[in-house]
Parts: sequence; structure tokens; C-alpha cells
Amino acid sequence: MDRYLVFGHPVRHSKSPFIHTLFARQTQQELEYGLAEPAVDEFAHALRTFFDQGGKGCNVTVPFKEQAFTLVDCLSPRAKRAGAVNTIKLTDDGVLLGDNTDGAGLVADLKSHGVMLADSRILLLGAGGAARGALAPLLAELPGELVVTNRTHTKAQQLAAEFHDLGPVTAQTYEQLVGPFDLVINSTSASLQGELPPLAPALIHTDIAIYDMMYGASDTAFISWAKQHGARQTMDGLGMLVEQAAEAFTVWRGIRPGTKQVLRELKRNLGVI
Ligand code: ATR
Repeated sequence: MDRYLVFGHPVRHSKSPFIHTLFARQTQQELEYGLAEPAVDEFAHALRTFFDQGGKGCNVTVPFKEQAFTLVDCLSPRAKRAGAVNTIKLTDDGVLLGDNTDGAGLVADLKSHGVMLADSRILLLGAGGAARGALAPLLAELPGELVVTNRTHTKAQQLAAEFHDLGPVTAQTYEQLVGPFDLVINSTSASLQGELPPLAPALIHTDIAIYDMMYGASDTAFISWAKQHGARQTMDGLGMLVEQAAEAFTVWRGIRPGTKQVLRELKRNLGVI
């Protein structure tokens, strides 16, 4: 049977096996999908061993995405832009192809929620790996303006300069921001520590769409905060998780699984509904 897995550390709580098993059942593909948690300095060896032993493809998550970027034989254009790899496929020619489906997953989830991206004013919080992966797919939707803001301003400036050729992206400090924005995407890891990015509450209004790439069984700190300040449309990263997985599954199997039912089952599994 074709074998796939996700590499991460820690990875025990990953939902990827659950999601891909449901995709396989839905599309009647015969495959198995497992977990691998190599020590941080043993990822390269573990990856090679997996493919030497017949593995067909894998996902890569924290903290291995940047390392995976350096270990594959060739890169998709979107992985090159993202500077990170979250999906690897062994091609029929024996080549390890590195791809990145995170940004496509974000855009697919935003669209599935009916969020209009063309001509919109988007604010992206954070300038780490997650923000980098989101920029090209967001700019491909032709927003009117995309502002990147980050606690460490120089990192936002670097990102804006790097992606400037793809569309109207600028960097501003949190203090410089002037609304109204149509969409705020939180790519920071602040919610992980229960912290909030230092965003002025005045930037939140009733018609704004709020997206937090993080998720949990209950609202993230950022989503709770945005709701308190009047946001009515809030979304967490669970949909992005399922959509990036669907994109990876499509890369591997050449068949696109449906995501709605799988997202519902995942929410039930997490106790969200
Ligand atoms: P990821 O790969 O998830 O993007 P990362 O590359 O470590 O992780 O980036 C984390 C991002 O969250 C950074 O933009 C970080 O800001 P700094 O560049 O200033 O470190 C941001 N971040 C983390 N905690 C934050 C907080 N409490 N408030 C605001 N931004 C925060």
C-alpha cells in the first residue's frame, strides 16, 4: 500500500492522519498515512530513510519546513517563494519534489467563507514563516493593498521588499496603521502564548473579516479580542489546515478531495461542534 506521513516535532497531536485518511476513503484511494517525530537533528536521515523504504510522499511541519526546503531535489515555484516546504512528493522519475500548499490552503479557506480578496485592503500581522508562505497566494488574488505589520519592523520591511514585484505590498509598524481594512490575517504565533499582537482596537469594525491562522477547541485569544471589539466575521485556521491538506493530497494523488464534510468531522473530533 502507498505510504505517506507527516514529519514534525512534536507531531503526536497532528490532525493530518485523520484528515488524509478521510480524504483517501472519500476518493477511494488505497494509502496509509502515519506520523514521524525524529529528533530535531535527525530529520534529514529520517526523510531519506522513509523514501528509501518506499514512501510516496510526506507532509512536513514545525520545525522542519525550512530544512525540508534544502533537502529536496527540486522546488515548485510556490515553495521557492515561500522559502519552506510542507509537502514532498516522490515523482515517477524518482525525484523528490518540494511544494508548499499552506498559502493556497489559506486562500481556499478564505474563499470558502465568502471573503472577497480582489480590490480589498488586507492587513497581515506577522512576518515569520507563516506570513512568507501566505504573501504570494494572497497577492495573486489582486488585493487593492496588502500591508504587512510586525513587532520587529525590519522583518516586515524585508518581506514587503521581497514580494513587491508581485503586487501592492507595503510594510508599516503597528503604530502607523490607518484603517479601514477589509480583512486582518493573524499569522503571528502570539496566540500560542495566549498573547495578542499590539493592534489598536479602533481598527476593528463590524464589517471586517478576521482570520487567525491558529486554531483551538475554543476561540483563540486574537479572535476573542476581535469579537469583543465588534468583529462579526471571525475564522480560525482549522479550515486552512484541511484545505492545505487537500492541496497536498491533490499533488500526490492527482485527485482533489472535497473538504466540507472532512472539516465538519474534524470539528466533531476536536469537540468544537
Ligand atoms: P511562523 O513560522 O509560525 O510564522 P515564526 O517564523 O517564529 O513562526 O514567526 C512568528 C511571528 O509571530 C513573528 O512575526 C513574530 O514577531 P517578531 O518577528 O517580532 O518576533 C510574531 N509574534 C510572536 N509573538 C508575538 C507577540 N506576542 N506579539 C506580536 N507578534 C508576535
